Amino acid sequence: MCTRLAGSGVYQKIINQMPPHRTYIEAFAGSGAVLHLKRAALANIAVDADASCTNKLKCDLPDVTVICDDAISVLKGYDYKGDELIYADPPYLG
Ligand SMILES: C[S@@+](CC[C@H](N)C(=O)[O-])C[C@H]1O[C@@H](n2cnc3c(N)ncnc32)[C@H](O)[C@@H]1O
Repeated sequence: MCTRLAGSGVYQKIINQMPPHRTYIEAFAGSGAVLHLKRAALANIAVDADASCTNKLKCDLPDVTVICDDAISVLKGYDYKGDELIYADPPYLG
């Protein structure tokens, strides 16, 4: 789902609960609804397996590192420093 849903206020509630961080990683980013709304961190990374989503994110958010890959693999292989915040919104079970 690469279409942004930004009207409900839910994303702002999520952002308001985020602790301080220097690196923000949005896994299963889709349209990047939170990424679009929150204040940018020093480093910002979006991961989604769907190329149509990541291509759109690359256009919309050129300062963000956008990765088209399996989010679990990316998170497992990431070189953590301890100042990262991960927001993950994986697909919902049917
Ligand atoms: C619930 S939607 C995320 C919606 C997102 N929060 C937004 O703002 O649009 C789940 C997303 O996970 C992606 N996805 C599914 N399997 C994935 C995987 N293994 N690795 C990365 N992304 C995956 C889908 O392409 C989809 O965009």
